[in-house]
Amino acid sequence: MTDIDRATQAVREDRLWRRHLDMAKLGGTARGGVNRQALSPEDAAARNQLMAWARARGFSVSTDAIGNLFVRRAGSDATARPVLSGSHMDSQPTGGRFDGMYGVLAAFEALEALEDAGIATRRPVEAVAWTNEEGSRFQPGAMGSAVFAGHYTLDAMLDVKDWKGVVLRDALTETLAAAPAPGRGERPGFALDGYVEAHIEQGPRLEDAKTTIGVVTGIQGSRRFVVDIVGEEAHAGTTPRAARKDAFVAAVAIAGAMQEATRDADDTLRFTIGRVDVLPGSPNTVPGRVSFTIDMRHPDMEVLDAHEARLRAIVATGAAPCSAGIERVTSVAPTVFDPAVIDLVRDAARRQGLSHMDMPSGAGHDAMHIAALCPTGMIFVPCERGISHNEIENATPADLAAGARVLVEALLRLANR
Ligand code: GLV
Ligand code: MN
Ligand code: MN
Repeated sequence: MTDIDRATQAVREDRLWRRHLDMAKLGGTARGGVNRQALSPEDAAARNQLMAWARARGFSVSTDAIGNLFVRRAGSDATARPVLSGSHMDSQPTGGRFDGMYGVLAAFEALEALEDAGIATRRPVEAVAWTNEEGSRFQPGAMGSAVFAGHYTLDAMLDVKDWKGVVLRDALTETLAAAPAPGRGERPGFALDGYVEAHIEQGPRLEDAKTTIGVVTGIQGSRRFVVDIVGEEAHAGTTPRAARKDAFVAAVAIAGAMQEATRDADDTLRFTIGRVDVLPGSPNTVPGRVSFTIDMRHPDMEVLDAHEARLRAIVATGAAPCSAGIERVTSVAPTVFDPAVIDLVRDAARRQGLSHMDMPSGAGHDAMHIAALCPTGMIFVPCERGISHNEIENATPADLAAGARVLVEALLRLANR
């Protein structure tokens, strides 16, 4: 039997599923999801759990200055650049059990399968849990991988505040004190030979097509903005409408105009206002200030540029008698994955007799930053009705294991190049 057959056969569906159930207890919610936001005590608990499993298998662990957590299975050539696989363990406030966690646990399962099968690789193979992929507590998302790739600076990210004013530097210090691991270099980032990330699809295409493996070809571009509207606080009982500068009224007008301006004929552009803060938040005070977030995505940069211009024009003219501004928080260009890694994933699925299809990713992933550093690709598996960013997110043990078998084959081939 070849090493590849032995490695794929060593993937254990029951173990991988049990690890998901164990992790789902950390930040578990009454509706069966998780609330394990970045750099929270629940995040620290997940880090400790992963490290405990890693140490039990004799793998070494390390963490860098933005808190990315690495689990390393040594290769025979200690000087060779590692092959990396993983995703994130932080979740949305009302998140599911699989978004991110699957990619970390599939990578860990790959390491365990190689270990159980007694297979030596030339290159080290490492699993990673990137810090703060979701960006729901601390903006921007995919932060750990972006700092690792040099796309955002460490110092700027350490100063970021969450919605309650907690500074990331403090949350990170607390998290690493609660889940300590040996440091990995002065600054985040080291040379990689390849990166493959497994993830649930988070959309319905694989399930609809009764297909097990998504061979991911790239990720659409995305931008996030914050719109800030300033009006004037006033008494709700005494102030005539004509005399008001109601920031919420202006926000509703702007948001409605934006919804209309971003409608496209083929329903490709994604436009979401996911958070609105109304201040001072008192029922009997006319709101003096409103801020809201915009998440906008499309595969084509030029379309994003054109729509950004429309959003800016609406903000410039639509707020009177209030004043308004719009700030772009992030812009991530569309990602095209490495053709050789795409082929590797497709060939592994085909060789293993798994149904598969090429597809782009609508969701963002850490792979979009790591793709700038080394040959990169992704593997998708179906999730129930395509539902994600929801506590009822679900996937089957068999599909998760199938993705892990494709992953271990791809990693093994990369690790022996
Ligand atoms: C990740 O969750 C994203 O926003 O695409
Ligand atoms: Mn994710
Ligand atoms: Mn997510």
